[in-house]
Amino acid sequence: MHKDAVHAGQAAYTPFTLALYDKAVLGLSCRWLWRCPASRLLDHYQANISDNHLDVGGGSGYFLDQVDFPSDDPRLALMDLNADSQTYFARCVARYLPARGFMSVYNCKDIFSNFQDTVSVLRAALASRLDDVQMQVEGCAALFSGRLGYKA
Ligand SMILES: C[S@@+](CC[C@H](N)C(=O)[O-])C[C@H]1O[C@@H](n2cnc3c(N)ncnc32)[C@H](O)[C@@H]1O
Repeated sequence: MHKDAVHAGQAAYTPFTLALYDKAVLGLSCRWLWRCPASRLLDHYQANISDNHLDVGGGSGYFLDQVDFPSDDPRLALMDLNADSQTYFARCVARYLPARGFMSVYNCKDIFSNFQDTVSVLRAALASRLDDVQMQVEGCAALFSGRLGYKA
């Protein structure tokens, strides 16, 4: 696909259009233009859902919000080119992944920039700058300390 088409395919999704999306697209267009109502799409989504789910291009997150996952603890991966869509549908799944859902919102807004961080990456980054690095993971937080110019 041409680069411009890839960009155009996600550029229409803004906080304004996403707020209208469920009513305008899923409500009106699906039923009257495409003659395939959102309820039919939801049945299809439901028939194919599992506890190990990748959603590509989630838009407003309507289907993620409406679907019944087989358990209360599904493994979810959400992928979308558009940061506003990511923020929108991260909210829809926050009840399954409370910490991760909120972190997605923070990261999409650039309030935090730690979505790619792992314990080993953080430990290595600290050790490259500080001596005597100590780190403990508590829940979703890494508690760390270190010293500059420390000699044991
Ligand atoms: C029409 S909405 C679909 C929403 C949802 N799947 C639904 O059926 O209601 C398209 C979504 O796909 C995303 N998107 C468009 N092109 C994409 C691409 N190349 N890679 C990932 N996401 C993309 C847009 O940002 C938007 O959130």
